[in-house]
Amino acid sequence: MDKRLTVRDIRKRKLMDDTQEPIVSLVCYTSQMARLINDHVDVILVGDSLGMTIYGYHNTLSVTLDMMINHGAAVVRSTTKPHIVVDMPFGSYEESPQVAFKSASKIMRETGAQSVKLEGGEEFADTIKFMTQRGIPVMGHIGLMPQRIQTLGGFFTQGKTEKESIRLINDAKAISEAGAFSMVVEAIPEEVATKITNSVEVPTIGIGGGRNCDGQILVSHDIPNLYGDFTPKFVKKYGNIDENIITAIKKYSKEVRSKLFPTEKHIFTIKK
Ligand code: KIV
Repeated sequence: MDKRLTVRDIRKRKLMDDTQEPIVSLVCYTSQMARLINDHVDVILVGDSLGMTIYGYHNTLSVTLDMMINHGAAVVRSTTKPHIVVDMPFGSYEESPQVAFKSASKIMRETGAQSVKLEGGEEFADTIKFMTQRGIPVMGHIGLMPQRIQTLGGFFTQGKTEKESIRLINDAKAISEAGAFSMVVEAIPEEVATKITNSVEVPTIGIGGGRNCDGQILVSHDIPNLYGDFTPKFVKKYGNIDENIITAIKKYSKEVRSKLFPTEKHIFTIKK
């Protein structure tokens, strides 16, 4: 059996010099995609962005613990190598460290994932400390936090002013000192992400955080263009599956309408 990367392995991936390789991570939600990416990534995040990409919501606020558990378990079952992190959905951890522990332990017990991720800075340092001291490895997430969409008023780049960038650096230090084993830094200027990376002892994983983070993460649906509704600036598309799917579906539709499908090859017959 392959051995999965542990939180210890990930902590060691803090980039010390140019000879080390950045952490390769992808957000992935389904068994099918998980099987395809198993051999090519260090970390898989079962992200609550599934609310938008898989379920068609306009934001991540409607995602439930059960949704995360179902998708988390599917991804764990379909992989052998990467470290699997499952996102804690909105409303499952904010109330108290005890509530956070209860939700996270349910996720870990019912999915088999190795860790959980939650969004938040200094205000969640106590929660992260409580969880890590009791056996739950926590990945942090600062910068653009999609679960704060209603207070932010939109998906905007964060940390663009000096005041905001100082707050972000303090957030990063607080959650790292509280015990987070790594952190996602989303949609912040490269200069700020670099300062954060240099200020904390744990790896930073950037999504729109520029070139100097200790790792990178993108949504696996975005890379082959499987989710075409909106493309943030930080996404690079490496293929165009959308187009291939549409071409195949159009051919099928045309053949059914013109009675070219099914043919004799695709039918069952009774024994003579
Ligand atoms: O849910 C998600 O896709 C995420 C990434 C943006 C890191 O949290």
